[in-house]
Amino acid sequence: MTARNIVVLGSTGSIGTQTLDVARRHPDKVKVVALAAGRRAQEALQQARECGARYVALGTEAPDVEIPEGVQVSVGAAAVADLVKLPEVDVVVNALVGAAGLRASYETLRAGKVLALANKESLVVGGDLIMPLAAEVDEQRRQAGLAPAHGPAGALMPIDSEHGAIYQCLIGESAREVSRLWVTASGGPFRGRTRDDLRDITAAQALAHPTWNMGPKITIDSSTLMNKGLEVIEAHHLFAMPYDRISVVVQPQSAIHSMVEFSDGSVKAHLGTTDMRIPIQYALSYPERWDAPVEPLDFTRLGSLEFAAPDTDTFRCLALARAAGERGGTLPCAMNAANEVAVAAFLAGEGTYLGIAECVEAVMDAHDVQAVESIDQLLEIDAWARREAKANIR
Ligand SMILES: NC(=O)c1ccc[n+]([C@@H]2O[C@H](COP(=O)([O-])OP(=O)(O)OC[C@H]3O[C@@H](n4cnc5c(N)ncnc54)[C@H](OP(=O)(O)O)[C@@H]3O)[C@@H](O)[C@H]2O)c1
Repeated sequence: MTARNIVVLGSTGSIGTQTLDVARRHPDKVKVVALAAGRRAQEALQQARECGARYVALGTEAPDVEIPEGVQVSVGAAAVADLVKLPEVDVVVNALVGAAGLRASYETLRAGKVLALANKESLVVGGDLIMPLAAEVDEQRRQAGLAPAHGPAGALMPIDSEHGAIYQCLIGESAREVSRLWVTASGGPFRGRTRDDLRDITAAQALAHPTWNMGPKITIDSSTLMNKGLEVIEAHHLFAMPYDRISVVVQPQSAIHSMVEFSDGSVKAHLGTTDMRIPIQYALSYPERWDAPVEPLDFTRLGSLEFAAPDTDTFRCLALARAAGERGGTLPCAMNAANEVAVAAFLAGEGTYLGIAECVEAVMDAHDVQAVESIDQLLEIDAWARREAKANIR
């Protein structure tokens, strides 16, 4: 296989830095062409020095940074989205956080590139626009002889560990024979708590996730189970599966990354060590597998695997997100924006933990749902929902 030229959007974040680690370990297979980051300009430029990226796009102006020789720096949301269109780019790793990643996902597929997607919010908000584009790029890849002989053509590779797991369980299977997707959840740091226990939760408590080490927004989403709700919507779009055939199960050890159930009752599960470099790498290596610097699971030491139903009365965000997905149209866009605002307020000490679900519900109730038509329409609804959410911080 010839080396893949990649862009890493969100290179200074949790997924971004782990993607650069994967690239560093496979220099013959992955070449980093460009990076995009938000506020951590110094760090992004240092990364460019180390990995040889020639382009860096920054979300915001960074006046006092020294630009390394040979590196071209640009600023602003359009600059970030422009990186994906560079002719030498094969794969875009979208590890931006929030709906800010939507345009980049859209432009990546419009430019006929492979989208390795960590930014689940892209699909939650714009799945109706993104999946048809992914199908077109799949077709282009087939016609150009770039698709593997068996399995998906690989235009949209999920990085979320659950969706990467389902993707792998589905290879070689017929879509008609799939009866259910089981999305696993760790249950977060507050599993087993009551609503009363959660009333005074602080950001520091919610940021201590039991199994995964992630950016602050997804860590809070994991604790409220909003992350699982977003993943249900993501699975619906990625695998064209109706919502009544997507179930969530709590698997506290996080050893099972998700499962697929078939019409004869057989279930395939994907297991592995909890290290995001594995799904990131698979999104880049597909259809191959490369060596990974990760201890394999030792089943003799794993002990037991537990399963439980999620508590959606206490963790209301999961039910709210599922309801938004089922209603469809622009409701997931409004729901997602409200959640982003409520989580940011909670992290800033301006809103309460239980107030996150209340804010999301208030914005969903106020939203006049439309069919999804365009990116600009979604961005307008996103802006409206943010204003509405700010008035509903509790
Ligand atoms: N972390 C995980 O283990 C994990 C697992 C599965 C899925 N995901 C998904 O992956 C995505 C990224 O998560 P994360 O945990 O890596 O988040 P993170 O650590 O907060 O990183 C976010 C990245 O996005 C950049 N960014 C934010 N706003 C930007 C803007 N306007 N323009 C340019 N860059 C911007 C940040 O740059 P600065 O820091 O420089 O501002 C940072 O590099 C999320 O959608 C999350 O749900 C994450």
